[in-house]
Amino acid sequence: MRINTEKLTALHAVEAERFVAAHPASIALARRAGASLVRGVPMPWMQRWASPVPPFAATARGAEVIDADNVRYLDLALGDTAAMAGHAPEPVVRAVAEQLAHGATTMLPSTAAIDAAEELTRRFGLPLWQLVLTATDANRFILRLARLATGRPKILVHNWCYHGTVDEAFATIDPAGTNGAAVTRIGNLGPQVDPAHTTRVVEINDLAVTEAALATGDVAAILIEPALTNIGIVLPEAGYHAALRALATRYGALLIIDETHTISLGPGGATAAWGLQPDALVIGKAIAGGVPGATYGMTRELAEKISQAIELDEIDTGGIGGTVSGSVLSAVAIRATLGEVLTPAAFPAMIAAATRWADGVEEVLARQSVGWSVTRLGARAEYHFTPEAPRTGGAAAAAVDHDLERYLHLHALNRGIILTPFHNMALFSPSTPGDAADRHTAAFDEAVASLRTGGVLS
Ligand SMILES: Cc1ncc(COP(=O)(O)O)c(C=O)c1O
Repeated sequence: MRINTEKLTALHAVEAERFVAAHPASIALARRAGASLVRGVPMPWMQRWASPVPPFAATARGAEVIDADNVRYLDLALGDTAAMAGHAPEPVVRAVAEQLAHGATTMLPSTAAIDAAEELTRRFGLPLWQLVLTATDANRFILRLARLATGRPKILVHNWCYHGTVDEAFATIDPAGTNGAAVTRIGNLGPQVDPAHTTRVVEINDLAVTEAALATGDVAAILIEPALTNIGIVLPEAGYHAALRALATRYGALLIIDETHTISLGPGGATAAWGLQPDALVIGKAIAGGVPGATYGMTRELAEKISQAIELDEIDTGGIGGTVSGSVLSAVAIRATLGEVLTPAAFPAMIAAATRWADGVEEVLARQSVGWSVTRLGARAEYHFTPEAPRTGGAAAAAVDHDLERYLHLHALNRGIILTPFHNMALFSPSTPGDAADRHTAAFDEAVASLRTGGVLS
């Protein structure tokens, strides 16, 4: 569909005015924040909200966020998955508060860490785990260990992947290269080294180029999300994962599955739902109920190889660490979240809610004759501005329209609905209310109608 950008800018301005009128407190806080926080926010990505200033948070509980102006929002972003258990889930609040009263960080292992690891094994199958603070850390550490175990220098990732602030993963396909040659990703800030030296990049679902890249013999590990979720959702095709596993084994590369977002598929993520067989697995965000906590797990065989290569006297300065990593606070949060909140019993309702959301969006698009598509991944769903769901990261990236996205997000925000700022995604927690999908459908219907009557879509 063609987009009239002038008319879109005019519609956006109307929504921006509406936001400003309803948010005097957030605007005053933004002005104050500008004096002490770089560009008025604690992290650069918080500038990505579609509103003239971000709504400043006052409190959040379940799937509701209330801002400094006392505006209430249905939160379909859920901290971009870090709050997939819902905000302030009672079992986690209780467990963390109790533990804080008994010490947060002692440098010693804990029973809670064993409990957490045992539950991770039940869910994902791998026998051995390490606890860290973020999925980024987990990815960085397992990549180091993969290079250590294989003696190879490079990592293979999917085009337009995101695995946190992991240097090797900020790469896209070099259009002039072969065998998965990489170029630095657009917007990569001050890279330590050119990712062309560290990384090979292939499209998800492109097994031929993946094989050519692995055949070079320099790939230590394949690090992938089982479905892309960070450039819109891009699903694997039938047989893709079995073939990828076989290629990894044939060419001696380790297969690392990052389940940080694909936990939306079920209690054991895609690994359990689709029967994957990774050598290592990473997951962060959701598993600790909003508290910093993440993990990487591995096979006994990989753990054995790594142990043989490590000098005990140097173990604290080997590039894998973090003084508060593995703390009992993360461990009790993971134990409570997995044991009492994101339980196997919680997933069917979350998935049903996401299905209802996706059906609602599809119904609006069909009724208003708008050729966009919707993809769902368990309890997470997303719409793309293309008639068919993209089947590669490159196609998904080409379909991104930041202006259109910002308008739709601001329109939703003004109707009390938060979508993930980076794309058109909705996620459902055990505490998301039953009418959430329908509320979004009604607001989305109005937004699409405004694009139609405003002459933006033709
Ligand atoms: C798939 C995936 N892995 C890892 C990360 C990194 O998580 P964190 O920012 O909590 O380190 C993200 C963040 O969005 C992610 O989507």
